[in-house]
Amino acid sequence: MSSFQRPSVAVVVGSVSKGSLNRKFAGALARLAAPKLDLKFVEIGDLPIYDYELEAALPAPVRRFKSEIEGADAVLLITPEYLRSIPAALKNALEWGARPYGKSSWAGKPAAIAGVTPGAIGTAVAQSHLRSIATVLELIVISQPELYIQIKPETFDANGDIVDPALRDLLTKFIDVFAAWVARQNHQTLLAAANF
Ligand code: FNR
Repeated sequence: MSSFQRPSVAVVVGSVSKGSLNRKFAGALARLAAPKLDLKFVEIGDLPIYDYELEAALPAPVRRFKSEIEGADAVLLITPEYLRSIPAALKNALEWGARPYGKSSWAGKPAAIAGVTPGAIGTAVAQSHLRSIATVLELIVISQPELYIQIKPETFDANGDIVDPALRDLLTKFIDVFAAWVARQNHQTLLAAANF
């Protein structure tokens, strides 16, 4: 990452549905973040179900997925809540990214977590599960601000942007903190690489 480039952020949306609210939210967040962070969507819908017997010759979608994660400066996980946890599709992607042993695509990446739902608790339980998994993956995740967001019919305008100024402010704060976090972690990585 050179000084004049925005850091790139691999965005993994935990829903494979075309009309996903989380995908729509991620799009709105990407537009808000654009001055500071380059959010790139990394698809998970074509990944096979994790099977260690596939590790000897990684399927093409797995190789594509792992290289897109590894090529990014940071990771943003945006999860729906299914059955008070994360969707199986997201868990599957997290498993592939962690494997083969010793070749994790996640370890040491600065990261953030968010999620939206029409439900009242705003994916809080799913995100809590995801934070536990992120620890095992050695993702370095920001804690605040937390984004537990309940989507209502009036949340998005016709362009898919966020209408509520208070929510836009919260998202802007989230982006500012995350961008600072990415810069700090990458600086430390550079110093470590140079043996300072
Ligand atoms: C849900 N939904 C849901 N919502 C929630 O707030 N807590 C939950 O535990 C669940 N559980 C759940 C399980 C399953 C199998 C489905 C299909 C749905 C509702 C969910 O939030 C809603 O469908 C969202 O639209 C899912 O996000 P995406 O896929 O639209 O991004």
